[in-house]
Amino acid sequence: MSYNLLKGKRGIIFGALDENSIAWKTAERVHEEGGEFVLTNAPIAMRMGQIKQLAEKTGSEIIPADATNLEELENLVAKAQEILGGKLDFVLHSIGMSVNVRKGKHYTDSNYDWTHKGWDVSAVSFHKTMSVLYKQDAMNEWGSIVALTYMAAQRVFPDYNDMADNKAYLESIARSFGYFFGRDKKVRVNTISQSPTPTTAGQGVKGFDGFISYADKMSPLGNATAEDCAAYTVSLFSDLTKRVTLQNLYNDGGFSNMGVSDAVMDAFTKE
Ligand SMILES: NC(=O)c1ccc[n+]([C@@H]2O[C@H](COP(=O)([O-])OP(=O)(O)OC[C@H]3O[C@@H](n4cnc5c(N)ncnc54)[C@H](O)[C@@H]3O)[C@@H](O)[C@H]2O)c1
Repeated sequence: MSYNLLKGKRGIIFGALDENSIAWKTAERVHEEGGEFVLTNAPIAMRMGQIKQLAEKTGSEIIPADATNLEELENLVAKAQEILGGKLDFVLHSIGMSVNVRKGKHYTDSNYDWTHKGWDVSAVSFHKTMSVLYKQDAMNEWGSIVALTYMAAQRVFPDYNDMADNKAYLESIARSFGYFFGRDKKVRVNTISQSPTPTTAGQGVKGFDGFISYADKMSPLGNATAEDCAAYTVSLFSDLTKRVTLQNLYNDGGFSNMGVSDAVMDAFTKE
């Protein structure tokens, strides 16, 4: 069902890799709600065949950009405004990657070149994106910027490795940059802390299957899906949330406030 919540709004959506990607579901949902956007992803990561399908389906153009590269981001933000015919109302940062996770390097034995790379891709890219948007004065007043995060920023999830630290940094950037974006441009900046979700990035985390079913059993409403995350993001891009900013917002079926659930107790109770 569409409510036309984003009619007349324009934006950029980072991070749609394949149809499981949270950004992919979000692009579909934003399109249904009347929003227009440019899709972007890293040239090396991009699976052209797949993202083209999404572009066709949503009537959007694709502008490749490595989100760690300022020149590519500058080109993206300038071109997106040209293509869409004006300043932007929404931006989704849906990017994450840890080389230590990918290569199975244990947290206690980090390769610091990889740590640096993962931090740049997963956290600093959000600062760079906002810096380019800010300097080009590319956002309309009452626009909205959202990045995706995970609760390993607050609590220990051993196999999340250095992504936990990257997410803590990302959430801090949302607050720090969000202050200046709010004060100077009336733009809000928030992070959505999403349940474990079966995507390429998600499944890269060791023990993901146990992790996702544990979270599901702990949450009174069960895990939030990628579609749920897309819908929540639409609400944050809409005019219904104009003064929500500097927040880390949990879209997790209630997991973050649980101690234990009956289902988890049952699994540990001897008959
Ligand atoms: N899947 C989960 O369990 C989960 C849970 C909470 C938060 N998140 C977050 O959601 C976001 C989206 O991840 P996803 O789960 O949809 O997985 P995904 O693998 O589909 O998306 C990650 C995206 O990051 C892109 N990317 C990597 N390096 C890049 C670069 N240098 N420049 C531009 N883009 C780059 C990839 O190409 C990919 O499209 C990430 O921030 C992730 O950490 C995921």
